Amino acid sequence: MTSNPSSAVRLPEGFLWGAATASYQIEGAVAEDGRTPSVWDTFATVPGAILDGDTGVEACDHYHRMPQDVALMAELGLDCYRFSIAWPRVRPDGGAPNPAGLDFYSRLVDELLGRGILPWVTLYHWDLPQALEDAGGWLSRDTAERFRDYALTVYDALGDRVRHWTTLNEPWCSAFLGYTGGQHAPGRQEGVAGVVAAHHLMLGHGLVVDELRRTGSPDDVLGITLNLTVAEPFDPAEPADVDAAERVDLLWNRMFLDPILRGSHAPELAARTEGMTWQGRAWQEFVHDGDLALIGAPLDVLGVNYYHGDGASGRTHPAADLLGSRISHPTRPTLSPFPGGQDIVFPRRGLPVTGLDWEVQPEGLTRLLRRLHEDYAAPALYITENGAAYEDVVAPDGSVHDPERLAYIEQHLLAIADAIDAGVDVRGYFAWSFLDNFEWAYGYAQRFGIVHVDYATQRRTPKSSALWYADVARTGRVPV
Ligand code: NOJ
Repeated sequence: MTSNPSSAVRLPEGFLWGAATASYQIEGAVAEDGRTPSVWDTFATVPGAILDGDTGVEACDHYHRMPQDVALMAELGLDCYRFSIAWPRVRPDGGAPNPAGLDFYSRLVDELLGRGILPWVTLYHWDLPQALEDAGGWLSRDTAERFRDYALTVYDALGDRVRHWTTLNEPWCSAFLGYTGGQHAPGRQEGVAGVVAAHHLMLGHGLVVDELRRTGSPDDVLGITLNLTVAEPFDPAEPADVDAAERVDLLWNRMFLDPILRGSHAPELAARTEGMTWQGRAWQEFVHDGDLALIGAPLDVLGVNYYHGDGASGRTHPAADLLGSRISHPTRPTLSPFPGGQDIVFPRRGLPVTGLDWEVQPEGLTRLLRRLHEDYAAPALYITENGAAYEDVVAPDGSVHDPERLAYIEQHLLAIADAIDAGVDVRGYFAWSFLDNFEWAYGYAQRFGIVHVDYATQRRTPKSSALWYADVARTGRVPV
């Protein structure tokens, strides 16, 4: 939006300011009150799967510290809090509902509402009950149906107080890092299986939306959160790089955007996966009549997670240029998550990078938001995650000064303001993350929080980015 004389960019009236977390990354208490293992509990026991052998067993101990954590959110003046529900806590082993597990989330919702913070619930942020993985996981159509049943259990418990529902978080990661590349749980490396998993995840999403539209409240705000990329060719003059960028766009963005927002598959998907089979079957055989109509049902909001730019290349590059390539794994041999794109790499392009070696490219977010609006007529957009891992230093007085993270958030907020100026309907922003937490394959080595967590004492310390963000949330203005 427009700058005013005091050099600030104002976001529209009513813009929501929040922060986000996910169950396995913060809760700990993995065996308490009836919770059973998820695929991430299992994966964390595989040697080499997680850096330093870290696990979510304790994480931020949020399960026991929830009221204090919510109090801190209130102190920071957050409008809303995006969190996820652990499926194996509320339906252990994917079986019957567990009142003790549901009670935790019910208390969390009450705590939030009591402090004037809007709860924004994500139903699935990757912690599939291990028992369901053992029965086929997302490669089984039945898992989509189990997901609908689980979602209804959560809705029955919280639907009297929660209006904002996100079905899935980043299904690209669940499908392609989980079943093609093996970077994430369950760590399977089965080629085009990622497309099959993606279909079943989207089917689960569609089944939940269908059910809630029929049986939920007319005030429900339903959506899904996707991680999207701006995938450009590393060198636009190189056909192999142009081809790599197209494959990435297809198997990352359009894989989900086309079915969910247009009710159809991207036409190029069939050609790009031709001849590939999983267990002797092409992915199309897993798509039943009526699935796309369910998947493409209108949504109220689309959540966008955006972190980095991506310069894709299909050529050989010196190893030094590939250091920390974004879809790598710190310790485990993995495969390309793009079926048929084994040669795709993301060499450094000279842009600044974060602790994970992710390129900082805020204007990519403006372009992405414009594309969603212009090409996909997307519903109201929310940035459901954005943030950066940097190495934090605790000063002798206990404070944590993180100017790089603050600048990263500031630049991305300005990029959002630019998109709004261009006519895109963006209604809110959630910083990832409220707390430092378990960063999947990277364990606790990478810190994304605006609040620092000392894992030895579980002490929370708002970083300078959090204090700055609190000010932005309070005033609706980004100082420039
Ligand atoms: C997206 C995921 O949803 C979240 O769980 C993760 O920690 C962040 N990206 C950072 O990698």
